[in-house]
Amino acid sequence: MSGIRNDSHDLILLLDFGAQYSQLIARRIRAEHVYCEIIPYDTPADKIAERRPRGIIFSGGPASVLDADAPYCDPGVFELGLPILGICYGMQLMTVMLGGEVISPSEREYGKVDVSVDDGGLLLRGMDKVTQAWMSHMLQVKAAPPGFRAVAHTRHCACAAFENTVRGCYGVQFHPEVTHTPQGRQVFQNFLFAVCGCAGDWLMSSYAEQAVEAIRRQVGDKQVLLGLSGGVDSSVAAALLHRAVGERLTAVCVNHGLMRKNEPEQVEAVFRPRLGDKLIMVDAARRFLHKLAGVSDPETKRKIIGAEFIEVFADTARSLDKLDFLAQGTIYPDIVESGSATGMVIKSHHNVGGLPERLPFCGIVEPLRPLFKDEVRALGLELGLPEDMVWRPPFPGPGLAIRIIGDITEDKLRIVRDSDEILRQEIAASELGRAASQYFTVLTGLRSVGVMGDERSYDYTVAVRAVSTDDFMTADWLRIPFEVLDKISRRIVNEVRQVNRIVYDITSKPPASIEWE
Ligand code: XMP
Repeated sequence: MSGIRNDSHDLILLLDFGAQYSQLIARRIRAEHVYCEIIPYDTPADKIAERRPRGIIFSGGPASVLDADAPYCDPGVFELGLPILGICYGMQLMTVMLGGEVISPSEREYGKVDVSVDDGGLLLRGMDKVTQAWMSHMLQVKAAPPGFRAVAHTRHCACAAFENTVRGCYGVQFHPEVTHTPQGRQVFQNFLFAVCGCAGDWLMSSYAEQAVEAIRRQVGDKQVLLGLSGGVDSSVAAALLHRAVGERLTAVCVNHGLMRKNEPEQVEAVFRPRLGDKLIMVDAARRFLHKLAGVSDPETKRKIIGAEFIEVFADTARSLDKLDFLAQGTIYPDIVESGSATGMVIKSHHNVGGLPERLPFCGIVEPLRPLFKDEVRALGLELGLPEDMVWRPPFPGPGLAIRIIGDITEDKLRIVRDSDEILRQEIAASELGRAASQYFTVLTGLRSVGVMGDERSYDYTVAVRAVSTDDFMTADWLRIPFEVLDKISRRIVNEVRQVNRIVYDITSKPPASIEWE
C-alpha cells in the first residue's frame, strides 16, 4: 500500500531483499504501533530520504551475499544518517558493504538455536543471557565491519548480532520476527524506541484513515466493484471501501451454493442497510453444482469454481452501468500461499487473480493487501462491523466444495453444512473463545459400519478440524476439551442424517494444511 502514510506518524521503511517473511516483519513493527512500509531493496537513497523515515530495516532474503549477482541496496542508504537494522541476509549485506567479512561456515545453523547475549549492547538489551532464536542461513559474519562489535554469539558463530551505535547500524543473524524467537519482540522494541526514538502512536484507526485517503486518491470519482463473499476479508474490504467512496461502491455477492449455513442471509442483513441497492446478490448455486458434478480432484474443483466465479461475476459486472475499478479483499497470506511471493503454489486460492484480465477495469484496489488476519479483524471492528462477522472463522473461496472429499452432491453439502453449523454452535458455547482460530467439519469419503437402534448402518465419517493459529501459515490443532468434543460428536450423529462416526483431526500445519483439500 505504498504512499498511504499520513505525515503525523513515524515511518519505518523495510527494504525487501525477497524474504518470505518480510510482511511478518512489517506486521511486528505495526504491532508496536509504528507504521512500516515495504519497499524494493534497490530504492534509491534520495527516494528513501524523501519519505523521512525514522529508521530502515533490511529484510532477510534467499540470495547469498557472496554471489556475484547478490541484491545490494544503494550504498547511499548508509549515508542518510538513519538507523538501520539488518536481519539475516540484511546483516550479511551490511557486513560486506561496510568492509567486514562473511563466510560460508563448515557448521551451518538451522532452526532453533541458543544465542548467548553479551553484556553492554543496546539492540539486545533486556533479553535473557541465553535466549532461543530461529536461524535459517548458509553464511555467517566472520569479521564485523570496522567500528562494529559483536553483541551476541552462538556455539558455532562468534557474531550472531552486532552493532555500531555511533553509526546507528545494527544486525541480527537470527530472525526476530518469527514465533520461534520468543524474545524477538525485544529486538524490535529496542530498535524502534531506544534506537530510532519512535513514539509508538500508530493505531488501526490510523490505518483506516490512511487507507481511506489512499483509496480516494487511487479511485478519484470513479466507480468500484467488489466481490463480497461474506467472509471476514471481503466484508472488511466492503466496509472500508464504503467509507472511502460511499455509494460509488457496488458489491456483488455470488452465492455459489457452497456457502455456510445462513451465510447469504447474513450478508444481506449486514450490508443491505449500508449499501442499499448497490448490494447485488446473485444466486448461481445450480450453475456451480452442475459444473462440479462428478469432480473429485481438489485442484480441479478449485479451478472450476474459480473459473465459474469469474464467469458469473463478469456477467454481472457487464450488466452494470460502469466498470472502473475492481476491488479485492486479498490479504497477505493469500499472496504468499498462492505462490506469487514464494514462487511455489501450495494451493491455488482462487481469490488472487483471474478476474482483472477478463474485464476492462482501469485498476485493482486491494486495500487489505499488507494485512494479516488479526489486523483485518481489528480494522473491521474499527469500521463498526459486528463482532460475530469479524470473528467468524475464515472461509475459503471454494467454500464447502473443498470440505467434501470426493465428488459434490446436494446431499453431501447438507451433511457438511449442517455439521459445520453444529460445530460452530458448540465452539461458541464453549470457553474456547478466540483460541479457536478456524474450525469446520469435513465430509470424509469414508463410510463405515455402525449401529443405530438395532439396525446396522453404513454411513459417513465426518472429521472435525479445529486449529489455533496466529497467521494461518502455521497452525496447531486445538485442544478442545473432551466434554465439548463429546457434545459435538453426539449432536452431529444424532442430528445429521447419514453420519455415524466422528473423528478429530490432531495434526498441525505443517505437515498437514488447515483444509483437507
Ligand atoms: P491451508 O489449507 O492452505 O489454509 O492450510 C490456510 C488458510 O487459507 C484458507 N484456504 C483458502 N482460501 N481459497 C481461499 O480463499 C482457497 O482455495 C483456500 N484454501 C485454503 C484456509 O481456509 C485457511 O484459512
